[in-house]
Amino acid sequence: MINDINEISPDLVVITGDLTDFGYVFEYEEAKRYIDEIECERKVVVPGNHDARNLGYLLFEEFFGKRLKTLKYKNITVVGVDSSEPDIDEGHIGREKYEYIEESFNGENFKIFALHHHLLPVPMCGRERNVPVDAGDVLELLDRLKVDLVLCGHRHVPWVWRLNNMIILNAGTTCTNRTKGRIGRSYNLIELDEGMRIYRISPTGERNMVIDEKRRMEVR
Ligand SMILES: [Fe+2]
Repeated sequence: MINDINEISPDLVVITGDLTDFGYVFEYEEAKRYIDEIECERKVVVPGNHDARNLGYLLFEEFFGKRLKTLKYKNITVVGVDSSEPDIDEGHIGREKYEYIEESFNGENFKIFALHHHLLPVPMCGRERNVPVDAGDVLELLDRLKVDLVLCGHRHVPWVWRLNNMIILNAGTTCTNRTKGRIGRSYNLIELDEGMRIYRISPTGERNMVIDEKRRMEVR
């Protein structure tokens, strides 16, 4: 996967969490070693529920920087938030972060919001759980701010929803064998220019287009 990504040579890499199993320091060290092998200057990494276990949220900041962050590149703004809470699996963004999110997304940029937990239920997951407890308010906020793309993970199921004008893209899992049924492993490749194309890529290199559309904002 790392070799394939390096071959693609992306402008931005977003990793939506669960870098570790229990948030231990040796796990963070190993995750950091792998992520450092991805040859990209601009990485947005946010923690998942596993990473917040056992004081892992403190180690996360040591290894990957702030848990709430903004990256601007060309006319793209990426806002990454920590949706985890220590030692529980439930998701939560928290209203104290809404103002930061709003300020970070000001202006007419192509807007990407990244978090670990799935903001909408994902199929093939059995009984629904761990959608952030404030998902409704966060979706309203993102919609109002004209966010173009939401990147999330957690459920190990690749999926895409369109909600109003937002694309909500759930990543599958790339590096764990914890795949459901025969869904298999994957990561997403997003191409932005005058439109947006999203491909789902498997470890064997198989590439499936899942989105191909014009967006309101051209990325220059
Ligand atoms: Fe998770």
